[in-house]
Amino acid sequence: MKTLDDASRTKRLDSQGMLGVLDGYVDGFLQAYRAASHARLAAPAGLGNVLICGMGGSGIGGNLVAGLIRPECPVPLTILKDYQVPGAVGPKSLVIAVSYSGNTEETLTVALEARARGATLVGVSSGGQLMKLAKERGSAYLPVEAGFAPRAALPHLFGTLLGAANALRLATLAPDAGLASHLRRVHAGLKPDVPERSNPAKQWARELHVRLPVWYGAGPLAPVALRARCQLNENAKMISRNDELPEANHNELVAWNSVKRGGGYFVGLLRQPDEPKEIARRFEFVETVLARRKVPRRTFTATAPTPLGRVLETLLFVDYVSVYAAFLRGVDPTPVDVIGALKDVLGKSGRAPEIRKRLR
Ligand code: PA5
Repeated sequence: MKTLDDASRTKRLDSQGMLGVLDGYVDGFLQAYRAASHARLAAPAGLGNVLICGMGGSGIGGNLVAGLIRPECPVPLTILKDYQVPGAVGPKSLVIAVSYSGNTEETLTVALEARARGATLVGVSSGGQLMKLAKERGSAYLPVEAGFAPRAALPHLFGTLLGAANALRLATLAPDAGLASHLRRVHAGLKPDVPERSNPAKQWARELHVRLPVWYGAGPLAPVALRARCQLNENAKMISRNDELPEANHNELVAWNSVKRGGGYFVGLLRQPDEPKEIARRFEFVETVLARRKVPRRTFTATAPTPLGRVLETLLFVDYVSVYAAFLRGVDPTPVDVIGALKDVLGKSGRAPEIRKRLR
């Protein structure tokens, strides 16, 4: 059986240091939050709507922020992961374009089109064409620390977006005084030097790495279920799925109820201790169905006292699970060569020539 407690083996597999990057999670988030929350940003007068666009590891920051601030955001907030700008985007729109590299063509297409329609643009990147676009054309720009794989920069991107949301008066949600110490405590229990017998992230990875993991979350944890899926896709190079409650109770539940002897799945339920009663009942019902169908499953219930803390705590947990799953599958978590290969193909055709022309 492959061990997760042999540091020399994991070091050999982790050639680009994904585990080391996780060490900076809490500080990376807090520093990025502070910098962005003090940035001089302004929404257009009479703000009508907000659009956050970004793909993959960059786009997920938008989902996380939206999941937290939607209840208090005074205008409609849309998350876009596509080329096509919605019809509602115009001079009273605020468009936040997020691309860690700054060169992702869907995001650049949206940023250019939003500007052409007179929307207020805020660019978030570690450089690239998005930085050039924002700086040269008088849009606001928030830099993110360079040097990471895009998905490993999530704490920085998420912190930047949440800080920006505060600076733009879309939200008042901020890290509380106890957040960092709580997260550091949780973090200490997930690190590679904590043996598998007492490390829940290693235990989850062991159970799910040979199955098809399906993740469920509700409210602010629904985007964390998406993150868990994407991290298993990219870090562990395995198929995974996610969905959210209550919606999945109106469709996927039927399929679970027909699964035979577990069906090769694993279900990760991401919960909050103070979730609304109706959501708690739904999770309990799902568990009953999964138990009847003998589907292996585990529940992670974050213990932080605030929704933001619970989101960060659960993110940290699923990120560790994904890296340990990569080690159990014998793969290096960092490289995602095939995404680069597709970007190379598109760089020569697709929208790239048109984007280059519009950026000139
Ligand atoms: O994790 C990854 O590398 C991808 O999901 C990228 O984030 C995605 O391709 C978008 O690129 P970028 O984040 O540079 O905009």
